[in-house]
Amino acid sequence: MTENRNSEAAWSYHEATKHSYTSIRAKPHFMDWSNQPLPFKIYPTLELLRLPNEVRQTGVAALSAISESVPAGTIAGPDLEAVAQLLYLSAGITRRRKYSGGEIYFRAAACTGALYEVELYLVCGDLTGLEAGVYHFAPAEFSLRRLRAGDYRRSLLEATGSEPAIAHAPLTVVCTCTYWRNAWKYQARTYRHFGWDNGTLLANLLAVATALGLPARAVCGFEDRQVHRLLDVDPQREVAFSLAALGHVAALPPPSTAEISPLSLQTVPLSQREVDYPLMREMHAASSLDSAEEAEAWRGRTPMTDFRPPAVPVVPLLALSDAEMPRDPIEQVIERRGSTRKFARTPITLAQLSTTLDRATRGVPADFLDPPGAQLNHLYLIVHAVEGLPSGAYIFHRRRGALACLKLGDFRADAGYLGLQQELPADAAVDIFFLADLPPIFERFGNRGYRAVQLEAGILGGKLYLGAYAQRLGATGLTFFDDDVVRFFSPHAEGKSAIFLVAIGHSAKPKG
Ligand SMILES: Cc1cc2nc3c(=O)[nH]c(=O)nc-3n(C[C@H](O)[C@H](O)[C@H](O)COP(=O)(O)O)c2cc1C
Repeated sequence: MTENRNSEAAWSYHEATKHSYTSIRAKPHFMDWSNQPLPFKIYPTLELLRLPNEVRQTGVAALSAISESVPAGTIAGPDLEAVAQLLYLSAGITRRRKYSGGEIYFRAAACTGALYEVELYLVCGDLTGLEAGVYHFAPAEFSLRRLRAGDYRRSLLEATGSEPAIAHAPLTVVCTCTYWRNAWKYQARTYRHFGWDNGTLLANLLAVATALGLPARAVCGFEDRQVHRLLDVDPQREVAFSLAALGHVAALPPPSTAEISPLSLQTVPLSQREVDYPLMREMHAASSLDSAEEAEAWRGRTPMTDFRPPAVPVVPLLALSDAEMPRDPIEQVIERRGSTRKFARTPITLAQLSTTLDRATRGVPADFLDPPGAQLNHLYLIVHAVEGLPSGAYIFHRRRGALACLKLGDFRADAGYLGLQQELPADAAVDIFFLADLPPIFERFGNRGYRAVQLEAGILGGKLYLGAYAQRLGATGLTFFDDDVVRFFSPHAEGKSAIFLVAIGHSAKPKG
C-alpha cells in the first residue's frame, strides 16, 4: 500500500488542527512582528520581464464567468496580454493600504490573514509574446522571472500520468504554497489554508479563463517530486498544491530533451528565522503521489458522498434569469472585491441568495470531480436576514435547486460563536458552511482527498465571493469551531467534518 492510501495521516492532521473554544484558550498564539515573513518570493539574481499592465476588458458578466466553462478541447491559447490578465486578476495587487508597520498589498483573491502564501509559476510552450519556458510570477513588480528557457510541458505531462488537459494546454499555471508565510500566524492549521487560499485564487483564474474563451481545468493528481524538481523549490518550505491547465492546442508538447537540472537560484529569506510545524510536512508527505501511475489512478471517479434527502419543508431557489442578472464584468467585480469587515444587519433578497448559490455551484472543471458537476462539499446555511426565507438552519440541495429547512429560529448568537466568536458571522445576512463526508473521500482518494476537499471548498468559496460582489453585496471567508459546527447542524450533519465558511450580506461600508 502506498503512503497516500493510508488515510490515518489525514485524520490525525484534521483532528490535531481543529479549533475549539478550549483549544483557542489553551494555546494562545502571538504573532512575532519582528519576524514577520516577506509577502513575496524574490529571486534577486534574475532579470524581470515586465508584463503588459493594461487591463483588457472582456466585458463578460461575472455571474456568467463563474458559472460557465469553455468546453474542453476548444482550440484556444493565451497570448502575453491574456497571461497578464489571468495573473493580475488571480494573484495581482489590486489595493494597497498603509499601516503603522508598513504597507499591506491586497491581492485579487481573498487570502487568510492577507499573507498570500500561494506562488504562481508558468510552464508554457511558445505563446504569442512569450517564449517557451518556466517562469515565476512576481506580483510586486507585475513581472515574470524566467527560471528555465525551453518547453518543459512534457515534464508536467509525465508527472500527471498523461492528464488530457495538461497534454494539450499551451500554458499550465503551477500553484505552490509556502508554509512559513502563512504558519507565522496560523501555525499547523496552515495546511488547510493552502487549499482555501489556492482555491479562492483558482476561482478567479477559472472565471477569467472562461471570460477569455480559454478552456481550463484544475489538476491535483501529479507526482509531487517531479513538479518540485521542475520548479526547483525546496519542498521542506514550499510545495506544489495544484495545476491549472489553460487553453488547448492540437499538438502534444515535444518530448523532453533537456535534463531537469537543479537551478540553485538564490532567493531572499522570508524572515530572520522560520518556525517549523512538522505536522504539515507530514500531512503533505502522506498525501504525495510517488509515480505517474499513482497520478493516473488518482484522478476521476468522485465518490458519491452521503446526502440524505430531507423530509422537511423545501424552499425552491428563486434565481435570477440571464436577462435579470446584474452584468458587471468579471474584471470590475474582481477589482472591487474585498472582504467585508462589517456587515449591516439588513436583509438580502431570496433572489440574491439563490443567484449566488446557483451560479457558484454549477460545477468546477477539476480532475477529481468526475462526472462534471460532482461535488465533495455540502453546503449548510444559517439564514439570519433573507427576505422571503424564515430565519433558521438550512441545507442546500443543488440538484433540486432548493433549500431544505433543518430548524427555524434566530441563530445570530450561535453563528457568531461558531465563527470563532467574531461579529461578522453574527451580523451577516447568511452564513454558508461547507461540510464534507470524509470517509468515502479518503477511501477513494487517500490522504490526497484532503487536499482536494479543501481546494474545492476554496474554489466554491471564491465563487461565492464573486457571486455576491457581482450583485453589490459583501462577503468574507471565516474560520470556525470545527466540532461545534457539526453539532449545530446535527443530526443531519452527523459524521461529517467542517471544512469552510463564507458569510454574505450587505457591507456596512459598501464598496464600489
Ligand atoms: C478562507 C478564508 C478565511 C478567512 N477567515 C477570516 C476570519 O476568520 N476573520 C476575518 O476577519 N477575516 C477572514 N478572512 C478574510 C481575510 O482576512 C481577507 O481575505 C484578507 O485580509 C485579504 O483581504 P481582502 O479579502 O479584502 O482582499 C478569511 C478569508 C478567507 C479566504
